[in-house]
Amino acid sequence: METLGSVSTLRSRRIILFPLPFQGHINPMLQLANILHTRGFKITIIHAEYNSPNPSNYPHFAFKPIKDRFSEIADQLATNRDGTYFARYLNKSCVDSFTDCLAELLVEPGEERVACVITDACFYFTQAVADDLKLPRIVLRTSGLGCTLACDALPFCSKKACFYLTKQDSDYEASVPEFPLLKFKDIANITINPQGMGDLTSNILNQMRASAGIIWNTFKELEESDLETLSQDFQVPSFTLGPFHKYFPASGSSLIEQDRTILSWLDKQPPKSVVYVSFGSVAHITKSEFQEVAHGLANIGLPFLWVVRPGMVVGSEWLESLPENFLERMGDRGRIVKWSPQQEVLAHPATGCFWTHNGWNSTLESICEGVPMICSPCLGDQPINARYVSDVWKIGVLLEDGFERVGIKMAIKRVMMDKEGEEMRERVSCLKEKVNLSLAEGGSSCRSLNNLVDYILSF
Ligand code: UDX
Repeated sequence: METLGSVSTLRSRRIILFPLPFQGHINPMLQLANILHTRGFKITIIHAEYNSPNPSNYPHFAFKPIKDRFSEIADQLATNRDGTYFARYLNKSCVDSFTDCLAELLVEPGEERVACVITDACFYFTQAVADDLKLPRIVLRTSGLGCTLACDALPFCSKKACFYLTKQDSDYEASVPEFPLLKFKDIANITINPQGMGDLTSNILNQMRASAGIIWNTFKELEESDLETLSQDFQVPSFTLGPFHKYFPASGSSLIEQDRTILSWLDKQPPKSVVYVSFGSVAHITKSEFQEVAHGLANIGLPFLWVVRPGMVVGSEWLESLPENFLERMGDRGRIVKWSPQQEVLAHPATGCFWTHNGWNSTLESICEGVPMICSPCLGDQPINARYVSDVWKIGVLLEDGFERVGIKMAIKRVMMDKEGEEMRERVSCLKEKVNLSLAEGGSSCRSLNNLVDYILSF
C-alpha cells in the first residue's frame, strides 16, 4: 500500500517548458505555465536568448537561458519572407544547449523529480532529446486544429507548382482537392518555400505523433469535427483546454511595451464604433499595401485604432510611408500605436470589429470578446484560420483581393454597417458564450485541464 510519503515522491509536480522564441508562441506557453502553476506544479522555463521573456514578471518560475545562435541570422528577420527558415534553423542551433540544460535540470541536487517536459510543437528536435533522457515530452500546439489538419493534407513537397499560382492562372480561385476549404490562392500565401514548409510540417507532425500527448490552445466546441478527425490520426492523448488567455492575460509576456494611453481614447468613442487594426508580431507588408490600408481607413469615416509595429512596413522604420498629411487629416478620429494591450482593446465596448492577420492568438482573442473580424492573412497558418473565420464559422469577411482600398471599404461596411455584419456579430457572440461555458466548472476545457493534470501526475 502507498504511504503519503511515497505518493509525494512518486507523483512529481515539477515541469519544464520550452517555448519557441516568437511572440505568438511565447504568450500561450507562459499562459500554460501559469495555468499549471495554479494547479500546484513547479515551473522551470528553458528559453532561447532571442526574445527572452522577462523573468521579473514571473517571480514564481525558474528561468534557464540557453545559447541559440539566433544572432547569426537575426538580420534576416526583416527581409527573409520564408518564415519556416527561422524555425528550421532553431531546431538545429538549440540542440546541444537544450540537451545539456535539460540533462542538468534532471539531476539538479535537492530538487524533486521532473515529471515531463512541455515543448512547442515547432521544436520537433526535442522529442529525440526527451526520448534519450527517458523523459515524457508533451507538445504544445499553438495553432488551431484546422491548421494541423491542413498541414497534414497539403502536398507541400510533391506539388510545388500549386504554391506559385498567380491571379492569371485559371485555378487561382479554385478549391484545393486535398483540403477543399482552402483555395489555391490561399496556399500561395502560406509559404514562399514549399520544400521548407513540407520539411518543417512533416517533422512537427511526426514528432507530435511520437510524443506523450498534445495540448491545444483551443476549445472543443469551436473545432469539434476536426477534433474527431485528428484523434484518429494522432493516437496520443489530446487536451483542448483553451483559450489560455482567458485564464491569464498575455501582458506579462509582451515583448514590446503596450501603449495603454489608447484606453482613455477608446473610452470616449461610441459603443461598437471603432475599427481595431493589427497584423500581429511577425507579418510584414509593403509600402503600397500600407498606403492602401491608410486610404481604406480614411475612406470609411469611422474611428480606428491601428497598430503599426516598428519595422512592419518593408523598408520603413515606422510611419514614414503614410500618405501625405494622413495623421493631420484624421485628427482625433484615428489613433496609431506601436503595440496595444490587445486583449483589453478587444474587450472594450467601443471596439466594433477587428481587422486582423488571423494569427491564432488574435483569432481566439477576438472570438472570446465576441468581436467580428476582417481577415488579411499574411503567412503560415493565417490563411487557414481566415478561411475558418469567413467560411466555416461565418464571423468575418476575408479580403479576397488583398490590401486594396475599394475592397477594404466594402469589407468594413459589410461588417460594421450591414445586416450581414449584425449576423456575424450574433454568431461570434454565440461562440463567446460557448467559450465561457467550456471554461466553467464541468465545461469541456475545464475537464480537459483536470485530465491533463491527472495525466502529468501519472508519470
Ligand atoms: C504567429 C502565427 O500567425 C500564429 O497563428 C501562431 O500560432 C503564432 O505565430 P503572431 O503574428 O504573433 O503569430 O500573431 P498572434 O498569434 O495573433 O499573436 C500575437 C499576440 O500578440 C497576441 O496574443 C496578441 O494579443 C498580442 N498583441 C498583438 C499585443 O499584445 N499587442 C498588439 O498590438 C498586437
